[in-house]
Amino acid sequence: MQSANTASNSSTVSDSAITYIDMHPPRHDVVKEVLAGFSGAQKVLSPKYFYDERGSQLFEAITQQPEYYPTRTERKILTDNAGNIADLIGQNITLIEPGCGSCEKVRLLLNALQPHQFIAMDISAEFLLTATNALAEEYPSLDITAVCADFSQITALTHRLNDSKNEHRRVAFYPGSTLGNFHPGAALDFLSTVRQMVGSNGGLLIGVDRHKNAGILDAAYNDAKGVTADFNLNALTHINRLLPANFNNDTFSHHAFYNSAQQRIEMHLRSETKQVVDCASHAINFNANETIHSENSYKYTPEQFCALAQTAGFKVIKTWSDCDDLFSVYYCAAQ
Ligand code: AVI
Repeated sequence: MQSANTASNSSTVSDSAITYIDMHPPRHDVVKEVLAGFSGAQKVLSPKYFYDERGSQLFEAITQQPEYYPTRTERKILTDNAGNIADLIGQNITLIEPGCGSCEKVRLLLNALQPHQFIAMDISAEFLLTATNALAEEYPSLDITAVCADFSQITALTHRLNDSKNEHRRVAFYPGSTLGNFHPGAALDFLSTVRQMVGSNGGLLIGVDRHKNAGILDAAYNDAKGVTADFNLNALTHINRLLPANFNNDTFSHHAFYNSAQQRIEMHLRSETKQVVDCASHAINFNANETIHSENSYKYTPEQFCALAQTAGFKVIKTWSDCDDLFSVYYCAAQ
């Protein structure tokens, strides 16, 4: 592994072709952020607190639940259309995946796409190195760069790419409908930043969940096995460890519903009783039935997504959907 950074890095895979770039943003003040979220009339907690090790495992388990259709539907769309997607995108590109996680979805495209280079971005260095090392073993001739960064670092990465001699067309890959977890304004900011990154001849391949019957959506976020409930409640366990705090999970419950006016699933953690929770030595009061709003998952009609992409500087060239119109994958060209 070649290290192209200033930070120390002790990965042991030395014979792979991975270049590692550490662009981790400065550590922010978790206590301040969480307490600020608990200080408003509606308490809020960022969905990023779902993802400690157990949370990542629980999310993986959610994707296997029969009610949670997005992952398997998107996977089938990508698998069935990989050749067509590659024809549209063209070969010899630099493919960039922000928030790549386990790099599981990109595997569905690599044989057809044959990119010149794959840039995998993720905030968890350990996870990123495990995922990219495994990918390097499967695709030994693929040039892989692992960038430890979150979305706030995309502009810095763009400068770095612009300064390098790499002239290959850039295409971003953003599967999983993670765009839906942003507020619409933040989704626009994110897409605009990606548009700057890929440049005027670049593209974006993105998976976005669709607006649909509320019954299907409610079921997807209230699976019968209670995995989504465990995932939601695990955020409190994570906060207990981080702050520390003394949330008792038995006194909170999972609450998820489709807000049709906002076209989003909302997840909340509802306090079953009136209680006081100690958060980093601050007393946080909860009334019975008061909630912490822990996640939004916006759903987009193709028209809404096309309009959003257009405002961000992209034109949707092609849309692939499943036969039930549950989920869509869009290829967008910079314009
Ligand atoms: C990661 N994200 C796209 C998932 C979603 O569907 O919004 C997170 C999730 N929350 C509950 N279930 C899955």
